[in-house]
Amino acid sequence: MMNKLEQIYEGKAKKVFKTEDPELLIVDYKDDATAFNGEKKGQIAGKGVVNNRMSNLLMQMLEKKGVPTHFVEEISDRETVVKAVTIMPLEVIVRNISAGSFAKRYGVEEGIVFDEPTFEVSYKNDDLGDPLMCESHAIALGIVTAEEIDQVRKYAFMVNDALKEFFLAVGLKLVDFKIEFGKTSDGTIILADEISPDTCRLWDVETNKKMDKDRFRRDLGDVEETYQEVFERIKG
Ligand code: TMP
Repeated sequence: MMNKLEQIYEGKAKKVFKTEDPELLIVDYKDDATAFNGEKKGQIAGKGVVNNRMSNLLMQMLEKKGVPTHFVEEISDRETVVKAVTIMPLEVIVRNISAGSFAKRYGVEEGIVFDEPTFEVSYKNDDLGDPLMCESHAIALGIVTAEEIDQVRKYAFMVNDALKEFFLAVGLKLVDFKIEFGKTSDGTIILADEISPDTCRLWDVETNKKMDKDRFRRDLGDVEETYQEVFERIKG
């Protein structure tokens, strides 16, 4: 049994603890929710449980599809043992349908289905508001090498293919999502952080109802119920 030692990080949605093994950490998911770079704050009852369990299900599915992840073992409803990584300060975003900042930036409506998924990265830096980042700037700043960004892009599209199919099978369209990668002590790039309704846009295939954190961001109501329903659908 893995024990939680010293807390090394507390983010907006998770806490991270050391364990006896320097290669392993324990992540503890909170119900806290923020939006707009922390300007909007709230709680979504039960979110920590849904995000922990959902993320773990999805990461195990992705491992089978050939995407290496940080997942090791779920130890409680809210806690998971993960591989220790140094997180790359990049938010990797793939989009299948226009929404959110894409729709705003280009002045287009939400719901345009793209012929091919898009790939973009933002610089993960709260003080700067996570600005969109050119790949060559990420290389210039030493965040990634050209080879590493190619690997990240390849994994991101593999994740998109797998998640799109998985969610469609439970009546959800994968509009877009954000993932984060980290490097283990030997430099291997693996998928880290979480995959949940906080980090994906999911629309019901029949009604187009938003089934993700946009319900919280945009005060659409049914927030808790929606997180529960997404989890009910995917756990099968
Ligand atoms: P965006 O349209 O606001 O750029 O969001 C794209 C995707 O990234 C969407 O699925 C929500 C997710 N996301 C996060 O996971 N964290 C964030 O801080 C933001 C802004 C978006």
